[in-house]
Amino acid sequence: MASPSAPARLVVLVSGSGTNLQALLDACEDPSYGARVVAVGADRPDIEGLARAEGHGVPTFVKQLSHFESRAEWDRAVTAAVAGFEPDLVVLAGFMKLLSEEFLAAFPDRVVNTHPALSPAFPGVRGPADALAYGVKVTGCTLFVVDGGVDTGPIISQSAVPVADDDDVASLHERIKVAERAMLVDAVGRIAREGLQVEGRSVRFGGPAT
Ligand code: GRF
Repeated sequence: MASPSAPARLVVLVSGSGTNLQALLDACEDPSYGARVVAVGADRPDIEGLARAEGHGVPTFVKQLSHFESRAEWDRAVTAAVAGFEPDLVVLAGFMKLLSEEFLAAFPDRVVNTHPALSPAFPGVRGPADALAYGVKVTGCTLFVVDGGVDTGPIISQSAVPVADDDDVASLHERIKVAERAMLVDAVGRIAREGLQVEGRSVRFGGPAT
């Protein structure tokens, strides 16, 4: 995906604090990482994630659903904005909106998302809270290729995180996010340098067999 002269182009979409984005921005400072963040998009203005991008001199764009007549128009605008930056990989890093089949079709097998639970357990926006409420002793994070479902796509990487007896949702989510950032940086770097093969639910790093 990347070559020495042309690192893989990442477009990262965020909705919040952007610590996962920050981890990628920091990793991309090293030329041997093989990728660079060429744009950061958000579904809302005035968030820390956008400020982090601006601090690194990375172009940003905001597409707020409420500014569009329909979800379909919003989706088309997001698709066009992302496509304009010609990404090799689109990384959803705490992006809190579902994207349409049309968006995914524009970037086949090239949209990845990080989720703060060990899939297939606890999909959706309450991953850490649902894991805590269920009483699991181990949870974690999952990086997957986005498909049409909610956190259902083929799994690229996972990392396990213990649940402490005195955890609340915030403390558990913070511990997960430490593992999540490391997982994301490792896997995105491997995708950039080695490529990614997706066949059904089977995902492997590396290029096509020759
Ligand atoms: C991450 O745990 C992500 O998986 C979840 O929201 C969190 C975003 O964190 N959807 P940040 O904005 O990267 O700090």
